[in-house]
Amino acid sequence: MKILKNGALVTPTGLRKADLAMDNGKIICIEENIPAKDGDVTVDVTGCIVFPGFIDGHTHLDLNNGVTDTADNFQTGTLGAVCGGTTTVIDFATQDKGNTLLHALDVWKGMAEGVSSCNYAFHMAITDWNERTKAEIPVMQAEGVTSFKAYFAYDNLKVTDYELLEILEALKPIHGTIGVHCENGPVINELQKRELAKGNFGPEAHPISRPPEVEAEAIDRLCWLGRLADAPVHVVHLSSKLGLEEIRHARARGQKVYAETCPQYLLFDDSKYSLPNFEGAKFVMSPPLRKIEDVAAIREALLNGEIDTVSTDHCSFHFETQKKMGLHDFTKIPNGAPGVEHRPTVMLTAFRDSLSYEKLAQLMSENPAKLFHLYPRKGALLPGSDADITVWDPNRKWTISASNQHQNVDYTPYEGFEASGQVKYVYVNGVLAVKDGQPTGVVAGRFVRSKT
Ligand code: URP
Ligand code: ZN
Ligand code: ZN
Repeated sequence: MKILKNGALVTPTGLRKADLAMDNGKIICIEENIPAKDGDVTVDVTGCIVFPGFIDGHTHLDLNNGVTDTADNFQTGTLGAVCGGTTTVIDFATQDKGNTLLHALDVWKGMAEGVSSCNYAFHMAITDWNERTKAEIPVMQAEGVTSFKAYFAYDNLKVTDYELLEILEALKPIHGTIGVHCENGPVINELQKRELAKGNFGPEAHPISRPPEVEAEAIDRLCWLGRLADAPVHVVHLSSKLGLEEIRHARARGQKVYAETCPQYLLFDDSKYSLPNFEGAKFVMSPPLRKIEDVAAIREALLNGEIDTVSTDHCSFHFETQKKMGLHDFTKIPNGAPGVEHRPTVMLTAFRDSLSYEKLAQLMSENPAKLFHLYPRKGALLPGSDADITVWDPNRKWTISASNQHQNVDYTPYEGFEASGQVKYVYVNGVLAVKDGQPTGVVAGRFVRSKT
């Protein structure tokens, strides 16, 4: 048995000074003064905060966007994740048009198995909705995949409004969850053409071609389709005040709407797109970074409990060799940015004074576990839960940099961020995967089945 002694444990019922014992990959007990027997290993974590391992509910590892592959695959992405305190990523297995969901699941499992330093589960992204796909929904449930994804944007991925309605209806019998990328793709395509016709080729044109109105319109549409289907909906990567207002409207009329945002929408604004030397491309992601007023609105929503989860939308591309594919045409800049390694550090530092440890644990661990049907196996420090544990030393100071990160990408949007606190130990299924922010070399990640 391993015993973590004298930590401040973030449990579902609050912060508690206690010891935690784990064995065979499970938490065995949480009590004051657990006595060590012969053969037990004790680790003194005095002064540290002991969190349920963080869960990143939105990553894109080993993804081909039609032109290029993400810089991070499962090996490097999960290594970065675990070094930053994330013990489970929920990635998007994505259906190929003309192919089955089961095929996509096999492909993604094949990419993750045996190389992942943290646990992994999957959302299934539906891109080809038809009778065969519909018949596979219960098959996915049996395979341990109960959360899904659909896109309103990206020509190669998006579904129609009617297809989304049918998907929402088809998920009801299995109590499945669906996250939706809410941007109006056809309108964006035309707005991009307008910018190019005006001679606007740089990253500054990216947010102009994807204004908050296209996000708000798509969120509104999703919410009404959810009401028509009498089903809950989940808005991923919420970025704008207008979009937030649509969520508020739907909630006010009694609908269940879950909202996810990401650290980039809480910390950065669209002035990043004007950085010199094409550096704005590092922040080309969809939805784009917004105005200062939007950042303030999303922060306020976070503080007053309107945001359910904070994930990363980690989708990394190297600046020099991949982002620069769009040097002369912003529409060719691969969309996405890295974040999986730094989310806990950034959130625990930026919101240290405004959110409690319990609330931060809910946003980054408990709520994604509940929403995606992994709770209480994941997302909680409870006897019987998996021993996925992040020990956080709040007193360590360090600076985030591409030169000290483990994810495989040549930059980080958080370069120079002064962190207050650092991951001290990370246990994945009871195995020590990280010590003092550095990997121990153990590859302990497993596929996690979700269950409704
Ligand atoms: O720009 C982004 N976010 N790329 C990843 C795909 C998505 O939209 O989630
Ligand atoms: Zn998206
Ligand atoms: Zn995404």
